[in-house]
Formats: sequence, structure tokens, C-alpha cells
Amino acid sequence: MSQTRLYMAPMKGLTDHLFRGAFADHFGGFDLAVAPFITTKQGPHIKRKYVKDLLPENNDRLPVVPQILSKTAVDFIVLANYLYDMGYDTVNWNLGCPSPMVANKQRGSGMLPFTGRIQSFLDTVIPELRGSLSIKMRLGWKEKRDIFRLLPAIDPYPLAEIIIHPRTGLQRYEGPVDLEAFEACLAMTRHDVVYNGDIRTVGDFRRLSRRFDGVQAWMIGRWCLVDPFLPGHIRTGTDDIVDKIQRMQRFHETLFEAYHRGLDGSAHVMNKMKGLWRYLSLPFENCKKAMKEITKSRRPDQYLERVNRFFETEATVSKDNL
Ligand SMILES: Cc1cc2nc3c(=O)[nH]c(=O)nc-3n(C[C@H](O)[C@H](O)[C@H](O)COP(=O)(O)O)c2cc1C
Repeated sequence: MSQTRLYMAPMKGLTDHLFRGAFADHFGGFDLAVAPFITTKQGPHIKRKYVKDLLPENNDRLPVVPQILSKTAVDFIVLANYLYDMGYDTVNWNLGCPSPMVANKQRGSGMLPFTGRIQSFLDTVIPELRGSLSIKMRLGWKEKRDIFRLLPAIDPYPLAEIIIHPRTGLQRYEGPVDLEAFEACLAMTRHDVVYNGDIRTVGDFRRLSRRFDGVQAWMIGRWCLVDPFLPGHIRTGTDDIVDKIQRMQRFHETLFEAYHRGLDGSAHVMNKMKGLWRYLSLPFENCKKAMKEITKSRRPDQYLERVNRFFETEATVSKDNL
């Protein structure tokens, strides 16, 4: 257990630096976060504003690995080296994004069928990087056999680790994770592998860690929004927090204030917060009416009043959910 490392998954639109900082302050449990992807730019100049989410002063509560989405080696080198020069040891390459807008252009998971292109990308990029590289990938774009071709081909490269989400790009985030295929992957690579996908409860974590006992790092995404106590619970093995709802309310308050200070205009703040409720609401019972009113509220004061009333007088969870 002491060697177990827990990573917060990158979730574009959700796990930005304000979220990561508030999460670390209120719940803890994670060893690091992989930041949501940034895309490469053409040309040699990167503006500080472009990497605002990754500025060290915005990330002093939880260690971060930046992630880049790109299929263009020269641009990748420029951005990755800029990030190493900011102080990062490792940069992650996104080979998992399932969005058709991305994948149809042979980026993200859409690059996985093209083993040769990935090899020549790594041939060009790795000698030029001033730090180490990890990769986050799926089993394939349309078919899981992509990864079975790819893993032996990338075995010789020096990689910090490979994070595997055992679904195809076509599956997006739905349907069962393919644990047999994940097991086969472990036997096909000498690299350290991080498991990611559908760790919803401590029971899930225990089952997976018993089955894959060589895996030491585990990544949790959506389910740390649904149950923010999950990483801490996995880490300590105990679930003795009695004031969970109050703590979620305080986290929400911190995040709301941080977005209020950090974002331009209340419409942005409201959109951000409403996006989170898609996951934050899941552990609560009979909350349909409250969620409807929360998502319909237009002004920040209306929104806050409704959310606080929910937390203080309505929110109930069943023991199985939180
Ligand atoms: C809204 C959303 C945004 C995501 N953004 C990214 C991203 O920027 N980079 C990435 O590698 N994966 C991204 N993912 C995938 C997650 O990192 C993770 O692989 C996926 O949610 C499965 O893990 P989970 O079952 O623990 O949620 C995103 C997922 C969601 C739901």
C-alpha cells in the first residue's frame, strides 16, 4: 500500500488549476494530477498566458504533469521544452482523446492505429526533449488491437510511464473497461503502467490492485468528483468522515470564489459550476428538482442561495454512494 500512487485524471473543462488546488486543500489523497491537455502552436513562441493553467505559482498544492495533444513533432518539441523550462520533469503525450474532432485528424486516440507514425514522432521528439515523456493512451481508436501492435514497437523508447485507459476511442467513456486486454498489455511492455478507468469505490480499487499487483499507480477521473473522499479513503483505508456534506459545501464555496476571482464574467463562472454538478450531484438521492433549479439559476447570488439551501437542508446520500 505504501508504494501506491494515486493520480488525478486530466479532464478538460473540469480539472483546471483552480479545481486541482481546491481539491487538494479540501480532500487530498492524490499524489499528483495530470493536467488537461493543451494543444501545440505553430512556430517557436509560446505566450505565458497560453500556459496559465500550468504556471508553477498556480500549482503549488499538488504536483502536476502537463499534457500535450499533438501529432506534429516539431511543435511538440517547442511546447514540451517550454514546459520543462518552467520546472516540469515530465510531460505527458495524449494518445487517448476520443473526440471525433480530434481523432478524425489522427490526433489523440485517432493516432493509435498508426504505429509507424508514432515511432517516427518519438524518434524525432525524444532526442530533443529536455525532460522525460510519458504517454496516456487507450486500447485503440476503433479496435483494441492497435495497442497490441503499439506496445512492442514503443518498448525500446525511454518513457517515464504509460497510462492505459482500457477502452477504445469509439467507446468514449461508456461500456465496460476491458480488463483482459489491460492484463495482456502488462505482459507486452517493460514500461511502468498506470491503470485508469472506472475506479468508483474502494472495493473497485481493491479488486483491481489485487488482480494487477504489479501496477503501482492508479488514475481516477470522474469518480473523484462523484466521491471526492475516494482518494483519501483508498490511501488511509478508513472511511470515518462524519461531516461529508458540510465538507463538500466548503469545497464548493472555495471553488466558486476561486472561479469568481479567476474567470472573466459571471456567465463563465456559472457555466463552470453547472458543468461540475453533472458529477457532483450523482451521490445524492432525490435531488432532481434541486438540480433543475441549480442549473436554471441565472445570477450568481441566485445560484449560491440555491446550492447552499441544497447542501444545508436537502442533501442526503446513501452509504453506498459516499
Ligand atoms: C469531461 C472529460 C474531459 C477529459 N479530458 C481529458 C484530457 O484533457 N486528457 C486526457 O488524457 N483525458 C481526458 N479525459 C479522460 C480521463 O482522463 C479518464 O481517462 C477517463 O475519464 C476515464 O477515467 P475515469 O473512469 O476514472 O473517469 C476526459 C474525460 C472527461 C469525462
